Amino acid sequence: MDNVIVLDFGGQYTHLIARRVRDLGVFSEIYPFNVEIDKLKMLFPKGIILSGGPSSVYEKNSPKLPEAFFDYVKAANIPILGICYGFHLIIHQLGGKIEPHKQKEYGRTELEILKSGILLDSLENKEIVWMSHGDRVKTMPKDFEILAKTETCPIATYGNEALRMYGVQFHPEVVHTPKGNVILNNFLSKIANAKKEWKLEDWINKAIEKIRDIVGPDKKVILGLSGGVDSSVTAALMHKSIGDRLHSIFVNNGVLRKNEEIQVQQSFRDDLQFQNFHYVDAQQLFMEKLKGIEDPEEKRRIIGHTFIEVFENKTIELEKEYPDIEFLAQGTIYPDRVETSATSNASARIKSHHNLTLPDDMTLKVIEPLRDLYKDEVRRIGLKLGVPKEIINRHPFPGPGLAVRIIGAIDKEKLDILRDADEILIEEIKKAGVYEKLWQAFCVFLPLKTVGIMGDYRTYEYICAIRVVESLDAMTANFAKLDMDLLEKIGTRIINEVKGINRVVYDISNKPPSTIEYE
Ligand code: XMP
Repeated sequence: MDNVIVLDFGGQYTHLIARRVRDLGVFSEIYPFNVEIDKLKMLFPKGIILSGGPSSVYEKNSPKLPEAFFDYVKAANIPILGICYGFHLIIHQLGGKIEPHKQKEYGRTELEILKSGILLDSLENKEIVWMSHGDRVKTMPKDFEILAKTETCPIATYGNEALRMYGVQFHPEVVHTPKGNVILNNFLSKIANAKKEWKLEDWINKAIEKIRDIVGPDKKVILGLSGGVDSSVTAALMHKSIGDRLHSIFVNNGVLRKNEEIQVQQSFRDDLQFQNFHYVDAQQLFMEKLKGIEDPEEKRRIIGHTFIEVFENKTIELEKEYPDIEFLAQGTIYPDRVETSATSNASARIKSHHNLTLPDDMTLKVIEPLRDLYKDEVRRIGLKLGVPKEIINRHPFPGPGLAVRIIGAIDKEKLDILRDADEILIEEIKKAGVYEKLWQAFCVFLPLKTVGIMGDYRTYEYICAIRVVESLDAMTANFAKLDMDLLEKIGTRIINEVKGINRVVYDISNKPPSTIEYE
């Protein structure tokens, strides 16, 4: 299949570039900027995109491409598109000059097209683009032409048709560049001539065949189902491939949302007709281990370890009954595996909590059928496989669940209070039609008692914080500016209906500097 490679220079949008390319129908993968040239050659890329990045090319230790890279792409006639840092790097390494600019350009800017060439084909003379940089191109090497400028940036797009090298100072991959997809599509189709072969229907059929091939006609597979999108879609795909030779294990760890265990069982047992869905109620064990534990990291550690213990015990039990169990399916997705320089910390952390870490002595072979997919692709595949919409569109939920949404030690009383409040919040947000526009909406239990008045009585009860954020990838997030009447309704209902809460506050912090979760 034709593919276009993205080389990562640490930009925050690197994954977004690859996703856009895939959305345009061309398969794309990310590699670090210092990938070995021999490895790159083996991928037979139709084109290469150099990502943005936080460094400046003239800094001594900033990431550079080896001579051999330019030798290879020139010899093989592979087209290159540089974005932001990549835009500077091509010029810098081929003998032009980049300099710092006193006026940093950030945000919406008007781009004036001087010569459209192939890259800017079909654009108007003036287009809005998204800039984010402090450097600019001062002089260009021979045969490079200026294609567009902005008010403060005389060289905002360039091209060298003979070398097939192009660069844009702005970010075509972000939605704030409305015609960004036209530019990327020009690069993919008209410059790189990449065939649009990346189709999810084909992917599903091939994945099913491949799974059948790997598992064979009679072996069985174990899977830890959390009810989240990735593990649910993995389960649906595996079930479609091997039917009831899939054994799914769902562990109730006591820190799930209200009725979550019932909904997950309904979806898989009833809607998707899983015969071998194994529900393990381990609430009591988790509660005993978490008793009196206040430290958030300790809570996470206990939940992670206890989960593995429970999962392992259930697997051993099943292996006795079904000796043909040979595989473990996991819901790893592409961003979990390929950490770009910009996302490494956050995704590593999320991953370690979402996915099972296998004990060393477990001899099952791992299958990760979604390992090359992005989340939105996983969602689309899930819908095609009949996974209920409520699961597909569900907000992310941390592995340690409600335990990190109760400050300090947890107990059943606090958990029940939080579950009831959270249910009201989600119900109202769904009713208002905004749930799917939000990254996450949840309640947090603050173990502080304040005074209130209900009827003739003075109350002394806990505080519930409401956290609702908008985000693209959880790296940054803004609190959602929800309608005040909606907030009032939610607050009133929680105070009236949830025993134990007499005050509701709305969290107006953004990330950074705050985080999305509280612990
Ligand atoms: P923070 O709080 O770091 O959260 O802004 C970023 C995203 O990660 C999720 N998150 C977690 N997910 N285990 C998880 O599986 C965790 O321990 C954890 N902590 C945070 C969080 O819900 C948000 O989407």
